[in-house]
Amino acid sequence: MNQTDKNHLDVDRVRTHAIQVGLLVSAEISLAYGLLQKFIYFHVLTNTFSKLNMNKQSQPDTKLDLREDFLAGMRYVANSVTVVTTNGVAGISGVTVSAFSSVSADPPTVLVCLNSASSTLEALQANKDFCVNVLPEGAKHIAERFAGFHDTAISDRFEGIDLTDSKGPSPVISGATAFICKLGETLSSGSHVICIGHIVETHAGNFTPLIYMDRKFKRISDIEG
Ligand SMILES: Cc1cc2nc3c(=O)[nH]c(=O)nc-3n(C[C@H](O)[C@H](O)[C@H](O)COP(=O)(O)O)c2cc1C
Repeated sequence: MNQTDKNHLDVDRVRTHAIQVGLLVSAEISLAYGLLQKFIYFHVLTNTFSKLNMNKQSQPDTKLDLREDFLAGMRYVANSVTVVTTNGVAGISGVTVSAFSSVSADPPTVLVCLNSASSTLEALQANKDFCVNVLPEGAKHIAERFAGFHDTAISDRFEGIDLTDSKGPSPVISGATAFICKLGETLSSGSHVICIGHIVETHAGNFTPLIYMDRKFKRISDIEG
């Protein structure tokens, strides 16, 4: 091989090497470009999702807020604690109720609000008679009994409860202020049914009533002065 051939061979080697290096560099550039593209897509997507999420969080769930605020407000409303009893064709039943109010004195009328799922409501609607027993302050155990706290241990809520005779069929709890009613109109509203009671007899108890407020049973005390 003469010098000219050797020179040609060297030039070919250098060219081949240069081509290999070029190919390698271009492969690495396209790989880096692909990675950069993926990074940008990922960044844009996560940014969009977090913005959507932030929007979702900053938009208040008005229905939920309204309910929570309502319940928070109702914690500071004090109510007497009553047991609404009924008896008749549908049998005897009783439930603890704080949603009780006077409606009118002419004629004497009251109302109670019962959950549509209440078994006592079903009995009351069939019996068409009920009695609102306003409990004295010492009767927390009776309130708990008729709120179903001991239903698993004591199946009959009336077991051991002292009752008084009255004109109507509905049980009157001894020591309670009792409003004995004939069922009037009913109005379904939300989860509850408003039951109007037309008074047939009242037994006034001379005691301070049991109070329910802030999810606790309470006593009334006089304000001095
Ligand atoms: C202090 C207190 C007040 C309550 N007030 C009511 C009320 O106003 N209306 C109602 O439907 N349930 C009220 N409840 C819940 C019922 O007493 C409870 O759900 C009961 O187990 C329903 O029984 P029933 O399905 O046999 O009627 C109250 C519970 C407590 C502890």
